[in-house]
Amino acid sequence: MNTFLELVKSRQSDRAYDPSRPVEQEKLDYLLEAARLAPSACNAQPWKFIVVTDPELRQKAAEAVADKTLGMNHFTLQAPVLLVMVEESANFTSSLGGIVKQKHFPHIDLGVAVAHLTLAAAEQGLGSCIVGWFNEKKMRKLLNIPSSKRPVLVITLGYSTQKLREKKRKAIEEVVSKNGY
Ligand SMILES: Cc1cc2nc3c(=O)[nH]c(=O)nc-3n(C[C@H](O)[C@H](O)[C@H](O)COP(=O)(O)O)c2cc1C
Repeated sequence: MNTFLELVKSRQSDRAYDPSRPVEQEKLDYLLEAARLAPSACNAQPWKFIVVTDPELRQKAAEAVADKTLGMNHFTLQAPVLLVMVEESANFTSSLGGIVKQKHFPHIDLGVAVAHLTLAAAEQGLGSCIVGWFNEKKMRKLLNIPSSKRPVLVITLGYSTQKLREKKRKAIEEVVSKNGY
């Protein structure tokens, strides 16, 4: 992998992992450092990352993600690591700016941090999947997250057993225009 674009293409949502291969602590530290260094509105850093590796807790956390009714996100039960991103309060300037400009900056900030994290995972040879569909209430209770805070994203991590797929994306002309909308 030589270029940033190659790294970007190598990151995909991996939904199957080798259960016998745990993720090394140094690699986890590396990803978390990449996320910690992400930019945020007014440098508020409105995030906390909960790393769930304990097998029993991880199983319960994955059960809060897997949706039996819709048959969604069952792959999370197999992931060696679950990382829960909690939205923390923004600082005064980010909150005020958000009110004035009608933008919820913390969600954007979390999105940037998760991009850092998942790209760093790809660079380290790890598979990941960003998961937004889960039972927040169950997750909050399980991980003792205060009721005033929201777990916004869950990221699965592990050694992927899936092949690299071609990206399905809108054509460049559809998403880029020059000198006007
Ligand atoms: C905010 C967000 C929420 C997502 N939630 C889920 C989810 O709940 N379950 C899932 O399997 N994938 C989820 N994904 C993964 C997307 O489906 C995936 O990124 C998209 O289809 C593009 O595919 P790729 O990541 O393989 O390039 C989510 C991605 C993002 C950015």
